[in-house]
Amino acid sequence: MKVDFYTSTREYNDKKDEFNNAVLGVMQKGISMLGTEVTDFEKTVQEFTGAKYAIGVASGTDALVIASDILGFKDGKEVITSPFTFLASTSCIVKHSAKPVFVDIDEDTFSIDASKIEEKITKDTVGIIPISLFSQMGDMDKIMDIGDIHNLRVLEDSAESFGMRWKGKGKDYRHAGTIGDFGIFSFFPTKTLGAYGDAGMIVTNDEELARITKMYRVHGASKKYHYDYIGYNSRLDSMQAAILQVKIKYINESIKKREHIAKLYIDRLKECEFIKIPKIKYGQKPVYYVFNILAQRRDELCKYLKANEIGNSIYYPIPLHLQKCFEYLGYQKGDFPVAEKVAKNIIALPIYPEITGQEVEFVCETIKKFYKDGQIS
Ligand SMILES: Cc1ncc(COP(=O)(O)O)c(C=O)c1O
Repeated sequence: MKVDFYTSTREYNDKKDEFNNAVLGVMQKGISMLGTEVTDFEKTVQEFTGAKYAIGVASGTDALVIASDILGFKDGKEVITSPFTFLASTSCIVKHSAKPVFVDIDEDTFSIDASKIEEKITKDTVGIIPISLFSQMGDMDKIMDIGDIHNLRVLEDSAESFGMRWKGKGKDYRHAGTIGDFGIFSFFPTKTLGAYGDAGMIVTNDEELARITKMYRVHGASKKYHYDYIGYNSRLDSMQAAILQVKIKYINESIKKREHIAKLYIDRLKECEFIKIPKIKYGQKPVYYVFNILAQRRDELCKYLKANEIGNSIYYPIPLHLQKCFEYLGYQKGDFPVAEKVAKNIIALPIYPEITGQEVEFVCETIKKFYKDGQIS
């Protein structure tokens, strides 16, 4: 049996007519930049997440760069974040010459260890970028408290977190990205809510931030050819918006299916002593965008799964403080032991709404066989 790590074709075949009609509809209506497809999708995201404002942009990376620019993450100021993530979570800080200051992660959530943030705050610190990875958020209550006490802006990198919800201090569940000053989503194709190309969104509850963001995505223009700021060309594409509007109709169903797959993995792998399965913390509602395990002999397991035609992936093999592009920051191996350990042991297994139970069983049996055979040899 061959198990794809990810495939878009099953979903496409299931909903072919809807996708085709959405795309054709955009073409038949005639080209429109930031047209009704975009505004409709923005409205749907507002309703789904509870954010007061949602502004579609070209990618999650652009969303981070634009939000960092607006929040003043620039000119030598320091922004606290964690090194175990995708490049864009930190490159957005550097783009306008601010300085990333890393804090190690919590091994369970893979997010910033909030108990270690305050010791890194200096007179130059202006913000925090917490990153919610794979299935859950870090300690958002503590992060927001630190932000309040020290007057720091919080930009949530919720690129991977569509659908995740946080239960804060007696309040209702709040959607990832709607807790800080700004939150961003990526609709990269493999994401829980994925387009057929690049797409992203910025969300905020602050009217003034939303007003400026709308200008920043169109070169900083308040109206055509009137530039209040030096902004970006970063519009959400109408075609992608039309596709996303189809997909978001099924989002609750696809989140449930992901949860079901995750439960199956957990159930089948929990007794395996060579593996650590994810632990959800802080009473939040997770969404299994990626299903990761921490595995002994990870690299051998990865090869073994590939040899058995089981797709897998490693997010993230090298923490950012050890990447060549960040050498100038002066960090050394050993500076963030949890991030480094996780990077050595983590492996992502196939998960998407259309994967079958039989395929998941096969993945689990193959993993168990690897360790069983390994024990004998
Ligand atoms: C944590 C994180 N931040 C930022 C991004 C950037 O998003 P995009 O690929 O849409 O530019 C991604 C995703 O790919 C991500 O996983």
